[in-house]
Amino acid sequence: MAGQPAPSPVAARVRCDHTRAWAALHAHYARSGQAFDVRDAFAADPGRHAAFSQEAPHVFADLSRHRVDAATEALLMDLARECGLPAWRDAMFAGALVNTTEQRAALHHLLRNVASASVDIVPSATEFIVNAQQEVAATRRAMLAYAEAVRADERITDVVGIGIGGSGLGPAMVVAALEDIAAPAKRIHFVSNVDGMALGSVLHGLRPRNTLFLIASKTFTTAETMVNAHAARDWFVAQGGGLPIDRHFVGLTTHLEAARAFGIATTFGFWDWVGGRFSLWSAIGLPIAIAIGADAFGALLAGAHAMDEHFRHAPLERNLPVRLGLLDVWYRNFHGFTSRCIAPYSHGLRRLPAYLQQLEMESNGKGVDWQGRALPYATAPVVWGEAGTNGQHAFFQMIHQGHDVIPVEFIVLRRGGRDLPGHHPRLVANALAQAQALMLGRASADGHRHFSGNRPSSVLVLEQLDAASLGALIALYEHRVAVSGMVWGINSFDQWGVELGKQLAANIEPRLATGDTTGLDASTAALVRRLGRKV
Ligand code: F6P
Repeated sequence: MAGQPAPSPVAARVRCDHTRAWAALHAHYARSGQAFDVRDAFAADPGRHAAFSQEAPHVFADLSRHRVDAATEALLMDLARECGLPAWRDAMFAGALVNTTEQRAALHHLLRNVASASVDIVPSATEFIVNAQQEVAATRRAMLAYAEAVRADERITDVVGIGIGGSGLGPAMVVAALEDIAAPAKRIHFVSNVDGMALGSVLHGLRPRNTLFLIASKTFTTAETMVNAHAARDWFVAQGGGLPIDRHFVGLTTHLEAARAFGIATTFGFWDWVGGRFSLWSAIGLPIAIAIGADAFGALLAGAHAMDEHFRHAPLERNLPVRLGLLDVWYRNFHGFTSRCIAPYSHGLRRLPAYLQQLEMESNGKGVDWQGRALPYATAPVVWGEAGTNGQHAFFQMIHQGHDVIPVEFIVLRRGGRDLPGHHPRLVANALAQAQALMLGRASADGHRHFSGNRPSSVLVLEQLDAASLGALIALYEHRVAVSGMVWGINSFDQWGVELGKQLAANIEPRLATGDTTGLDASTAALVRRLGRKV
């Protein structure tokens, strides 16, 4: 691609623990933060709900049940400014090499800038950005045309997406969320795990002539995806009676030559400045486009773009990704909370917790700063969850009465989807009741029945689960992660922590066949002997 991305803006970066605001936040925490009680705060301030709630594109957020007051937020904003957040954000949008360990930009926002043929959208556009915008627009046009052709092709009844991590979780989550508007004549399947049961159970009952395989891999080298892709191809060749592979396999990748070497003729590319976990907006989103069509895919992008614009231009104090990202810092580094629960009160959003686990924990689960120096403070919390009301009958006991304080994120829709009478009000009532119970608690002399209350939660409200709101919600989370990662001084866009396990697995796999345990630690050697073929 012509042009060069702007250099990294790290020079302007200040690590959070080197700021005045960090020390001031510690003092504030000791003075009033630690003992802060949300119930007292509501009693003292009739305007609290309004002050700690806000509208952002497609999302209303009630943050009033959190352990923050105006002074806390003011200090967190000071922290963001001292760390250089606004300049860093602008540099990221302008294409600077914010992924410093890989010398890459993080320009996923360009993918949803649908009017991106126009340079004014990014006033500071460099030649690199302008070229990228043009390539994005051309690829999107081709991919959406292909998606529409597949939708119109009655012979294709089953689409199998093979991809893992960022090449699987995003499309699977969005397709599940928007199944109400998906083409009824297409079944979309996803296979990630290298466990043969995953692919085997999908292939069972499929007919090659009615099946389209989408092999999604940024690198086209990921072991799990390659094993599944080869197995799918073997099945297709064995069962297909001479059907052409190149009409039934599509590659979604930055490594087009590797896809061609595999035997794939139809490919849709993307670029190294799209991180895997930020890639559902790119060609990786083809299963989504096939499911919901080009117009709805455009609405998904437009919703995300609206959130991008909010993040870029809203004042920090009313900037939802900024407020949420800073809240995450406040809870992790001052209150010491170790996890956050995602509770979507929406069956459609049932895959959101899994998607957010990669987005947040792969981005911000880091122990060194951008210069590789060990951090003296914690970073990403554990992110976990389950759709409501299922979670209520599983782990909410612990959130109400367990020792740890676990902030909960309730996601609630004003209007339900394909609803049966009476279901949606009951679902909403449960979400509100849980948030209320967590905050208010209930005093009882009987310890078993005592609820301490003052347990924090957010309520994020979407008008309904449509493509635009979903796009905005996902982009909100992406930017929130970028904000907390920036303040923590880490590189949110690399993932070196997954490398070691990949290498060791490649070393262990042949040993399971040969039984050779030479040089292995005693524990692994014993397990290789137990699990290997020679047992
Ligand atoms: O888990 C590591 C990782 O590199 C993720 O970041 C990525 O989303 C996933 O593997 C899949 O990678 P690829 O798209 O290259 O197959």
